Amino acid sequence: MKHIVVLSGAGVSAESGLKTFRDADGLWEGHNVMDVATPEGFAKNPELVLTFYNERRKQLLEVKPNSAHFDLAALEQDYKVTIITQNVDDLHERAGSTNVIHLHGELLKARSIKNNDILPWNTDMKLGDLCAQGHQIRPHIVWFGEAVPMIDEAIEICKTADILIIVGTSMQVYPAAGLKDFVKSGTPIFYIDPKPADIHDKYVTTIKEKASTGMKTVIKALSSQ
Ligand code: OAD
Repeated sequence: MKHIVVLSGAGVSAESGLKTFRDADGLWEGHNVMDVATPEGFAKNPELVLTFYNERRKQLLEVKPNSAHFDLAALEQDYKVTIITQNVDDLHERAGSTNVIHLHGELLKARSIKNNDILPWNTDMKLGDLCAQGHQIRPHIVWFGEAVPMIDEAIEICKTADILIIVGTSMQVYPAAGLKDFVKSGTPIFYIDPKPADIHDKYVTTIKEKASTGMKTVIKALSSQ
């Protein structure tokens, strides 16, 4: 079975009603990214940061996967599929994908600020909510300036790709954006994005469409391979 590796970003969830980051002038749901997505922001105003992610979590529980998520999940019928997502939502899983790596963490998990304890979390998070060892918890999100613990595993997975699908990412944030450079030379790459970044690689087919229709185009191309 061929191995399809998918690198997804905020754009794959846009048609579910979740805003992307860079389509909003550096603001994320009205906030400066540096205030809500950095360790410094959390140290300065933890309530603001917790409230911000509480709102994102609530919103996530109200939206549903879209056809792009479902089409990616359906690829598992014919291929081995690994999804490496920059998204902190769980829409790939809810659509049925069984092999999803979250590079930037998950909204529905909490992490101790003192150790690596990670726990499921689907309600509001407040100051005073503690892990089993008695330490404050925080959202399980990789903030700017923090290490990306899953990156080494993601690199190894990319090396085994027979096909790479990149969908809904501006390819601006590293190390995630660098993952495409780890696929074997000659690996076909499909890049779906209505406003794609320039990717200079002769093996890239750029599909300038939304994720939903772009996935249909990719499926057609795969069936004729
Ligand atoms: P961006 O907001 O940077 O890029 C979203 C991309 O989705 C853009 O290239 C849009 O053109 C595209 N897009 C918009 N609507 C779309 C649609 N309907 N279908 C397909 N594509 C569409 O988001 P990411 O590249 O995911 O990190 O950003 C990477 C990281 O930066 C995020 O994981 C986040 C952010 O800071 C953390 O939260 C740690």
